[in-house]
Amino acid sequence: PAVTVRSQQSRLNMATALSQEELKKQVGYKAVDDYVKSGQVVGLGTGSTAYYAVERVGEKLKSGELKDILAIPTSIRTKEQAEELGIPLVTLDTHSKLDVAIDGADEVDPGLNLVKGGGGALLREKMVEICADKFIVIVDESKLCDGLGPGFPVPVEITPFCHEHTMRTVGDLSTCKGKCKPVLRMGSSSSNQPDGDEIAVTDNGNYIVDLHFDEPIADPPKMAEELKNVCGVVDHGLFCGMTTAVIIAGSDGISVKK
Ligand code: 5RP
Repeated sequence: PAVTVRSQQSRLNMATALSQEELKKQVGYKAVDDYVKSGQVVGLGTGSTAYYAVERVGEKLKSGELKDILAIPTSIRTKEQAEELGIPLVTLDTHSKLDVAIDGADEVDPGLNLVKGGGGALLREKMVEICADKFIVIVDESKLCDGLGPGFPVPVEITPFCHEHTMRTVGDLSTCKGKCKPVLRMGSSSSNQPDGDEIAVTDNGNYIVDLHFDEPIADPPKMAEELKNVCGVVDHGLFCGMTTAVIIAGSDGISVKK
């Protein structure tokens, strides 16, 4: 019976995993269908949800439904996926203004502030998405929260030079002291689970410290400002006041929050 229970459970897990994957695909495709038009400069996000938006852009370019798209990827992973799909790529150096950027998120609060960077791509994501006329966020409903912080650690990208000093400085900020535990990300930069003996390194050659909060962050914009002012912090995963719309996949279908 134990084996039967286990195999039933694993079938259930597979079904859940598949439907979760299906939800990601639905929001990824919808974002492209609703917001990307021919002739646009488009920011391509990073992660397992953004993957489907990139896939859709490639598919529509191939079928001719979209033409003359120029895309800016937010990570090496996304760049490689886009290249495989034949999506023409440019950089911010030649195109500082984007029509639209599409990306996933780790947490979304009621004011549409985000935690991003679970995949370690927060710096390039912010640099690209801040330059977009429209920033479209694609998530499943598990990413919605009442307050940022306790549900997902806030990643902060820091220089390797004197990173322990920078971690201490961050931990002493008024918005962090006594409120969070800073943990240096180990293993792969794309996972905030300690999964290796090596310090995780981002696409930009930096480290990530994940700030683990027990309580919701009272004032995300204030914390964002404090973090940004620390010498040694390159950027952080609080994306405040940037979101145009969030496309949410849930058990009742797809909804949009603006
Ligand atoms: C990567 C990110 C991702 O957008 C975020 O982690 C969500 O990823 P996923 O769609 O795989 O849950 O910020 O740095």
